[in-house]
Amino acid sequence: MTLDIAPHTRESPDYRDAGLVFPPGFLIGSATAAYQIEGAAADDGRGPSIWDTFSATPGKVAGGDTGAVAVDHYNRLDADLDLMAELGLEAYRFSIAWPRIQPTGSGAVNEAGLAFYGRLVDGLLARGIRPIATLYHWDLPQALEEAGGWTERETAHRFAEYTRIVAEALGDRVPVWTTLNEPWCSAFLGYGSGAHAPGRTDGEAALRAVHHLNLAHGLAVQVLREVVPRAEVSITLNFHVVRGDGDGASDAVRRIDALANRAFTGPLLRGAYPADLIEDTGGVTDWSFVLPGDDAIIHQPLDFLGVNYYSTARVRLWDGVSPRERADGHKSAGGSPWPGSEHVEFLQQEGPHTAMGWNIAPDGLEELLVSLGEQFPGLPLVITENGAAFDDEVTGDRVADTLRIDYLRRHFTAAHRAIERGVDLRGYLVWSFLDNFEWAYGYSKRFGIVHVDYATQRRTVKDSGRWLAELVQGHAIPL
Ligand code: NOJ
Repeated sequence: MTLDIAPHTRESPDYRDAGLVFPPGFLIGSATAAYQIEGAAADDGRGPSIWDTFSATPGKVAGGDTGAVAVDHYNRLDADLDLMAELGLEAYRFSIAWPRIQPTGSGAVNEAGLAFYGRLVDGLLARGIRPIATLYHWDLPQALEEAGGWTERETAHRFAEYTRIVAEALGDRVPVWTTLNEPWCSAFLGYGSGAHAPGRTDGEAALRAVHHLNLAHGLAVQVLREVVPRAEVSITLNFHVVRGDGDGASDAVRRIDALANRAFTGPLLRGAYPADLIEDTGGVTDWSFVLPGDDAIIHQPLDFLGVNYYSTARVRLWDGVSPRERADGHKSAGGSPWPGSEHVEFLQQEGPHTAMGWNIAPDGLEELLVSLGEQFPGLPLVITENGAAFDDEVTGDRVADTLRIDYLRRHFTAAHRAIERGVDLRGYLVWSFLDNFEWAYGYSKRFGIVHVDYATQRRTVKDSGRWLAELVQGHAIPL
């Protein structure tokens, strides 16, 4: 089947005249994550992860949904790879499920799990698609959580061991590696607010998790450099583009920037935790879990920085009215994702919004890319995720998702503007290739450029998928 590229869906002379062509070598593709698409959760020796446990716990995930079946990608690998090739994707970012490789998070290797990723990588290479492997996209083996999870230093060492197994098996074929995806979510939603697995609500645990995730990254980079010296190595962060409102706005912005952004860029890219972060969280922890020598382990040279961007945030100092449901895009489940800064309130943003309730703000992407380019000169950037959930409707064999096309067009344009302003941006991966399990929202939110009918597992390329195919083909933003 060849893909019939849809005619331009929108008249937009501005774009035609602007000639928004991406530079040669700019990599355009799409992304997914193991637990969100694979299913086959108990097949071929896979062990349970914290997301299996969490999603099986009543009340944690909308609709009681789990990733047990997801979109059955594990059993539909070849057909999904064919679809990627039909869309002309140049790169595909996927994650490797640690519990498929080491069912209990340490010790013996499950060869069947490793073989699946071997087939995935070979299938991508055979179709001329560049594999970008993420080692950790939130599915910690449950056995490690029972030993303390990311609050324990030992978990970072287990991650290094797992990285070595995967690098030795796939290093000859995977050119690009990402250690962690969005460690902010793993730490603060997993151990602080409890909205994500493992669902703990303890501020100190969240900060310990931050450090052990950073340490895991540093140890994994060392392993990758040793085992796969030619590999390009990165980490993906979800930066918060924060704006302030009212009196004390600058303090509110500074605090959230410290917890959300600089808690990671500080040690990863500058070699130390920011002094204001340590001070702000002094009532929560004394940071004694940071041992001498850790800063040097974490501060490894990287080949690029992965940037996930969806929307912006607006904050102010709490006025005394408890914001029960914080408008920060993540369901509050009892704890705080901002230890030590609970008095900072997230404000509802003006629309338009996506189905997640997130405001659509392409200017935030341009601002973020320019700011990162200025803060970290010499470090190339890749947009490892950007995309939107909307309430799609299937009509026959068509999904006319004009809102998603519009979202993507505006964000690709913002990225193009950043390049014109001198930012060294190397690629753009749309989230997501397939509709999938959207964590605490279950299957209620669809981010795919390919629609999935969850009852039949039938795939239908959305108009946005065809639009992306056209973008790749011309290496320019379609009219
Ligand atoms: C970031 C996460 O990496 C991904 O797993 C998630 O589905 C998207 N954001 C959308 O929320």
